[in-house]
Amino acid sequence: MARRKIVLFGEPILREKAKRVRNFDKELKILVQDMLETMRQADGIGLAAPQIGIPLRVTVIEVPEEDPIVLVNPEVVEQQGQRQCSEGCLSYPGYRGVTNRSELVRVKALDVNGEKLRIKADGLLAQALEHEIDHLNGILYTDVLIDKNKIYRTDMLPEDGQPES
Ligand code: CO
Repeated sequence: MARRKIVLFGEPILREKAKRVRNFDKELKILVQDMLETMRQADGIGLAAPQIGIPLRVTVIEVPEEDPIVLVNPEVVEQQGQRQCSEGCLSYPGYRGVTNRSELVRVKALDVNGEKLRIKADGLLAQALEHEIDHLNGILYTDVLIDKNKIYRTDMLPEDGQPES
């Protein structure tokens, strides 16, 4: 496994729509392993392939106390309710904002072997799913802030214990 470099806000790839994966080959498995390692090294709970410069629809999520989830070609199929979340991004370290997210999210995707999977989530996992799938569509959390002008430096905030993705 190898840790990859995380690209930062301002890089054009973060604004592109990522391409669907067609080959469930060894290269994809290596990419996923590298993404998991990169996410963990950065203390994140999610990472999307464009964040390491790869324009493919692949994301990994690992929220505390849960097994890691690998999503290939994921699609949000249902969103219910609305809530406000404290949110950050590994591509914009040191900042957080308050976003509008769904209370409940249903996602369909393929796993690393091309097998179908479905996830129903609320709480932090629902937030991470929306955040990461947004990345695959070139959308960043700063696009879904409740107040477009308000982001905060985390060193100016009391520790809220919320991880970045
Ligand atoms: Co992010």
